[in-house]
Amino acid sequence: MALVTFTNPEYRDKTVYAVAGSHTQTLLKLARENKIPIQFECEDGDCGTCLIKVSSIDKKNQRMGGPLTEKEKTILKQAGKVTAAELEAMIVDDLPCEWRLACQMIVRDEDIRVEY
Ligand code: FES
Repeated sequence: MALVTFTNPEYRDKTVYAVAGSHTQTLLKLARENKIPIQFECEDGDCGTCLIKVSSIDKKNQRMGGPLTEKEKTILKQAGKVTAAELEAMIVDDLPCEWRLACQMIVRDEDIRVEY
């Protein structure tokens, strides 16, 4: 069970439980199920509308690493959120990226804060 806290300056924070490990539960799906108004369009990693910033809530534990999808790499580079060198370092050292696409990020067993 993971705790996901959605936060946006225009809305009250909302924390929801997520069942991690389904391999199909994206953060966008979780947000929509819980009526979190994350913006989205394509739901397929192409438009970048669902850009979010993800951080760990648990200060003791670092966020899990995990690969970005190819579509995320493309969009995040285009948006200037990551450089090619940063992407390479993330892959080599299995580091998490603070910027993600909600429609591409699979919920994992970690407590996170999602800024949208
Ligand atoms: Fe288009 Fe996520 S909704 S990239």
